[in-house]
Amino acid sequence: MPKHMIMFISFVLTIAVVPETGATVKYNITNTAAETSGGVRYENQIGFEYSKHTLKSSNLFIWRIFQQKNKADRANVTLVHLFIDDMDGVAYCEDNEIHVSTNYIAGYQDDLKKEFSGVVYHEMTHVWQWNGNDSAPQGLIEGIADFVRLKAGYIPSHWVQPGQGDQWDQGYDVTARFLDHCEGLRNGFVAQLNKKMQYGYSVDYFVDLVGKTVDLLWSEYKAAYNG
Ligand SMILES: *[C@@H]1O[C@H](CO)[C@@H](O)[C@H](O)[C@H]1NC(C)=O
Ligand SMILES: *[C@@H]1O[C@H](CO)[C@@H](O)[C@H](O)[C@H]1NC(C)=O
Ligand SMILES: *[C@@H]1O[C@H](CO)[C@@H](O)[C@H](O)[C@H]1NC(C)=O
Repeated sequence: MPKHMIMFISFVLTIAVVPETGATVKYNITNTAAETSGGVRYENQIGFEYSKHTLKSSNLFIWRIFQQKNKADRANVTLVHLFIDDMDGVAYCEDNEIHVSTNYIAGYQDDLKKEFSGVVYHEMTHVWQWNGNDSAPQGLIEGIADFVRLKAGYIPSHWVQPGQGDQWDQGYDVTARFLDHCEGLRNGFVAQLNKKMQYGYSVDYFVDLVGKTVDLLWSEYKAAYNG
């Protein structure tokens, strides 16, 4: 058997999450780059068991953050596939597939398991979040994914501090910190915002939820930290 076939390991895990509605999600994990240094490091320092645990816990955490108690509230997803791939960048999510870079794993200097978890929480959010029928700002989409990461406590050292950043929809950590500020004004803000984004998007959703425009909210947020 050729070496790459031996290295091509995969398994499927099924969890029963809400038995009364029969909701189950399967996870499939495949290391397609087990011969690379990052692929080897993945096997040695992260591994399938930890990945499985992280996929499952991130999934449950996201449903809780989004207040999606029932299957009917959620995206219709039954299989999430994690790939460990030989590629550049960090990770991406497309069609319920999460792809994590072995180059990134190989070069990561800090706590690797914690970073892997943070990346999975971010990418798993993309599986379940609504995008306003593709009309929501990309910065908001990425900000919500990092908001989930923030709430899970996987905050990397390179993130901006609260109050930093140039605009509310800058994305990632900047928008995540701003959304956390909005969450402080209304408990469940991000869950409600995500819910509104199921079929469309309007910047007025901020007004609907907290009675202020997003521009006013952003300037108040900036003033609270820089005043
Ligand atoms: C899991 O992934 C492997 C490799 O891509 C594939 O062969 C297998 O069919 C997948 N299993 C499921 C249930 O999708
Ligand atoms: C959910 O997706 C599956 C296929 O992925 C499909 O068979 C099923 O009809 C979908 N259910 C709903 C309610 O859209
Ligand atoms: C989503 O967007 C597409 C393309 O812009 C449009 O045809 C469709 O009606 C929209 N769906 C909803 C539910 O608004």
